Amino acid sequence: MKSLCQPIQQARLGTAQIHTADANLRESKLKGPALDQGNELSVVERHLPIVKSLRCPDEAATQALAENLAANPALRNTFIELQGDLGAGKTTLVRHLLRALGVQGRIKSPTYAVVEAYEVSSQDLNTSLNIWHFDFYRFQGPQEWEEAGFRDIFTSPGLKLAEWPEKVGELLPRADLTLHLATLDNEARALTLTSQSPIGEALLQSLQDLQDLPHSEGTA
Ligand SMILES: Nc1ncnc2c1ncn2[C@@H]1O[C@H](COP(=O)(O)OP(=O)(O)O)[C@@H](O)[C@H]1O
Ligand SMILES: [Mg+2]
Repeated sequence: MKSLCQPIQQARLGTAQIHTADANLRESKLKGPALDQGNELSVVERHLPIVKSLRCPDEAATQALAENLAANPALRNTFIELQGDLGAGKTTLVRHLLRALGVQGRIKSPTYAVVEAYEVSSQDLNTSLNIWHFDFYRFQGPQEWEEAGFRDIFTSPGLKLAEWPEKVGELLPRADLTLHLATLDNEARALTLTSQSPIGEALLQSLQDLQDLPHSEGTA
């Protein structure tokens, strides 16, 4: 039987899921959008995160999840950050995602180069997709951010994936989706997905649809 990541808890909107720092944003949303500067930007900033926690029993399950993510067209212009300790499976998940998007050949971990870039053509849309896979573990600081052109990459269309985003700090734009991986045992991983924008929410929503179907059939 094919392994799949299974929900640990239901995705939900609610106070329990909101960081303390976001609590005031939630409150102002409840009072209505026209309070102060009710422009488009502030609507995005008031986005309520959705959190989904999954248990991926083995790498095949992680692969299936990456394939589900890759199937969503919203991924074409998204920034996903990957958190978790060394060996948690960040690079492994990215590799499966890149394969599912059509990347061929060797997929190197960008641990030393900091970034690996890919371009894949998509058959259905007759366009190409730019992908950047970052590993900021060895990130040198603001000077490298400017000199290596990372700022330009993050303002370009395409898919940006970043391991060790915490090493960059404030310079890094807000991700659409945060994936946090934690090792449970040799093979099992706990995966927590948090949306940070409407794009991230759309990605999580489609993932939910895909993940829940086989789950409910399989556990009857
Ligand atoms: N369920 C799983 N999901 C992801 N990786 C797994 C899983 N089970 C075992 N692994 C293994 O764990 C290791 C993760 O390494 P890697 O992806 O390089 O971690 P990181 O990039 O987080 O440091 C790989 O050897 C991978 O095959
Ligand atoms: Mg890695």
